[in-house]
Amino acid sequence: MATGFGVVGCGMIAHFHAKALADIRGAKLVAGFDMVPAAADKLAEATGCTPYYRLADMLADPAVDVVTIGTPSGAHMEPAVAAARAGKHVIVEKPLEITLRRCDRIIRECEKAGVVLSTIFPSRFHESSIEMKRALDAGRFGRLTVGDAIVKWYRTQAYYDSGDWRGTWELDGGGALMNQAIHSVDLLTWLMGPVAEIRAQTALLAHERIAVEDVAMATLRFENGALGIIEASTAIYPGYLKRIEIHGSGGSAIMEEEDLIKWDFAKKAARDAAIHQRMSQQISGGGGAADPAAIGHHGHTRQFQDVLKAIKKGTRPAVDGAEGRRSVEIILAIYKAAETGRAVKLPLASDPVLKARKSGVS
Ligand SMILES: NC(=O)c1ccc[n+]([C@@H]2O[C@H](COP(=O)([O-])OP(=O)(O)OC[C@H]3O[C@@H](n4cnc5c(N)ncnc54)[C@H](O)[C@@H]3O)[C@@H](O)[C@H]2O)c1
Repeated sequence: MATGFGVVGCGMIAHFHAKALADIRGAKLVAGFDMVPAAADKLAEATGCTPYYRLADMLADPAVDVVTIGTPSGAHMEPAVAAARAGKHVIVEKPLEITLRRCDRIIRECEKAGVVLSTIFPSRFHESSIEMKRALDAGRFGRLTVGDAIVKWYRTQAYYDSGDWRGTWELDGGGALMNQAIHSVDLLTWLMGPVAEIRAQTALLAHERIAVEDVAMATLRFENGALGIIEASTAIYPGYLKRIEIHGSGGSAIMEEEDLIKWDFAKKAARDAAIHQRMSQQISGGGGAADPAAIGHHGHTRQFQDVLKAIKKGTRPAVDGAEGRRSVEIILAIYKAAETGRAVKLPLASDPVLKARKSGVS
């Protein structure tokens, strides 16, 4: 029998969850809950799932085995904890949550309930990311020297005006970094390893009526000694494909969205020919550079398949709760470094106190 999925928060990304699940034999979207009934009804009409208007009712539905969370970022914890307590496996959209305390609560509750927890980072499942990781693990870059994540994106004012939660500290948890560039921050630390120290500056330059940054620049020192940068913006017209650039004494690779556009190693390997062949095909679409809805759902499909495998085999998914927490910690450290003008060392002992986050999310 197919594994039943229920989604909490039936907005933009929930419709991508539905498309991703439709591509998986053995999985079925059976339910959707939203605090706005019309949103649940819309998802139900589009997919044939059962709409729910109270979370408790959806969690009581025995057809729901896995709950995906697509609520605003600072409203992930409550439904994730409720789902775990109801014995459902939990898949949470990025960021896992907007503070470390809230991330840790989700992780703890899922462990206590013995359910699988996964944080959505579809880029981890792209073939190009996996090739890069394989080359890193094989030591092909030699001594790692530089790792960069560059996200020069564009969001219109209308995008920020389209939802009360967008661009707020309370529910978006930050701006270009916490919402948009987090995919690249996750990839960078997955590939390069943990970050040891951060210096940063942020600014709000080209949008109105938001409280968070639309430009952020950080320099990093990784634990392995390599240096790097994170550049994140939603204020660069017309918006360009995001890039990850990894360099070392023995090789370099540059990924633009899903394409490997540079793959240069001092010592050649048999796989390189196939990688160069694929490189020339340029499969990337817009990747969300200018339009948040211009993304594919194949990364979500692969990630849902990974979670289904973990459930079946009793193993951990590729991107578990601890993996989801890593990028949140780096981003909070960038905010702290930008606010104080001082270097911030990682790991953080606890959530940094941010003056910008006036109301103190707890
Ligand atoms: N993985 C990706 O590529 C990707 C892309 C876009 C968004 N996201 C993430 O998905 C989440 C949602 O983003 P979106 O663009 O779909 O937002 P959205 O505003 O389109 O949808 C959010 C939905 O949640 C509902 N909601 C709000 N609070 C709720 C609550 N407490 N309980 C139940 N429903 C509630 C709203 O009514 C709305 O229908 C965010 O965390 C965002 O970072 C991920």
